[in-house]
Formats: sequence, C-alpha cells, structure tokens
Amino acid sequence: MTTLDSERISVLLDRLHQDAEAADRTLVEEVVGDMAASGKTMEQLAAELISEERSDMRSVYRRHADHFLSVSPAYGRFLYAMARACRATRIVEFGTSMGVSAIYLAAALRDNGGGKLIGTELEPGKVARARAHIATAGLADLVEIREGDARETLADVGGPVDLLHIDGAWSLYLPILKLVEPRLRPGSVVLAENAFADDYLTFMRNPTNGYLSQPIPVDEGRGNEFAVKVD
Ligand SMILES: C[S@@+](CC[C@H](N)C(=O)[O-])C[C@H]1O[C@@H](n2cnc3c(N)ncnc32)[C@H](O)[C@@H]1O
Repeated sequence: MTTLDSERISVLLDRLHQDAEAADRTLVEEVVGDMAASGKTMEQLAAELISEERSDMRSVYRRHADHFLSVSPAYGRFLYAMARACRATRIVEFGTSMGVSAIYLAAALRDNGGGKLIGTELEPGKVARARAHIATAGLADLVEIREGDARETLADVGGPVDLLHIDGAWSLYLPILKLVEPRLRPGSVVLAENAFADDYLTFMRNPTNGYLSQPIPVDEGRGNEFAVKVD
C-alpha cells in the first residue's frame, strides 16, 4: 500500500477535495456561465487573465485568497505516479494554494525514501492553511513552503530538481521555468496545470530548447502539459 492510500492521507484528501468543491463552486459556475454567455474559448479567457495578471498580479490572487483552485483527484494521483516514476527526491512546486497537490507530491517523496518539496505561495493565509494540511497529513518533515512571489522565493532552490510542478500565475510559467532550469538535468520532469500561455507552450514544444513536451489528457481542457528535459 502507498502512503497516498494510507487512511490518514486518503481521509484528509477526500475532505480537502470536498472543501475545494464547496469553496470554488460559485467561481466555477461564474466561469462556465461567462463562457456560455460570451462564446469565449478557454484560450480567450486565458489571454484575458494573463493580461490582467501582467497589470496587477497581487490583486488577481487576493481575490482568490479563499479559493482552493486545486488539482483534481485524478491529476493528484498522476502527480504522485510521476514523482514515483522518476524516483524524485527533490521537487519544486510553483503555486501551493491550500497544499492539496503538495500532499500528493510529498506522499511520493515518502515512498521514494525521503527528500524535499519546496513549494511557494503568494497569499499568507493560504501558506498557513497549506502548512496545517501538510502537518495533518504527517508530511511536514518533507515540505518547505516559501511565502512570497515565486520570482523571488524560487531564485535559489539549493540543489538539483527531479520534478518541477508549475501551477501558479498563468503569465509566469516561462519565467519560472527559466528560473529553475539551471537545476534541471536530463530526465527531470516538468508538469504544468493550466498551461495556456503561448510563450510557455512555444518554448517547451520547440525541441531545440532541450525538452520533449506534449499535452496530456488527465483533465481535459485544463491545460495539462507533460515535459521531460532531454538535454
Ligand atoms: C492554481 S493555484 C495552485 C493549486 C495547488 N497547486 C493545488 O493543486 O493545491 C495557484 C496558486 O498560485 C498562487 N500564486 C500566483 N502567483 C504567484 C506568485 N507569483 N508566486 C507564488 N504564488 C503565486 C496563487 O495565490 C494560487 O494560490
């Protein structure tokens, strides 16, 4: 049995996914309603959000201070599986929110024999809640959450990175990849949720940049992109 399937963690994750559903329900209904009424595609909505972030990122995410915005159970299990597959012992995550994806990743570290996950989150209230959830999961010894803007908090991750999970501000996917890139090695995995930014996808899918990158259908329409550093 895996750490993910232990009673302590499976009960906690079930509760957190239920809390996320309740906390984010109105937001999801608004987005779906807006798309239906305006006829806008996901790509158009993404372009609008990216432009809004570029003018005032703090305000955008302050509005979501009580939203989980977390990965689905299926994507969480995929994160766990990927971290096990590449035997990750050092993981970096951009965008911790309430710590749901961090629990999946840290559970994989536990089953890989130990290691470290460095996460980062802009909203102080979310940092506190993520730390509490990770402690409840019994995984606090494996996780460091850095409070602040990832452009600063991830400038020094202190060692090689086996797996990078990108799930923060949509406009920062390429800048954060470039920030952490010197710590990636051939075989390191880069996973992105909500990868809609053109600059990120164009860079990652150009093989001359050293990655093999492709969309994957874990959660259709949610911009799941899998990449491996090849050289
Ligand atoms: C989609 S949520 C992350 C969900 C999380 N990975 C999970 O599955 O539980 C994105 C988070 O990134 C945070 N964020 C946005 N911009 C950031 C930045 N520049 N630095 C650090 N965190 C940021 C937001 O506050 C938000 O909580």
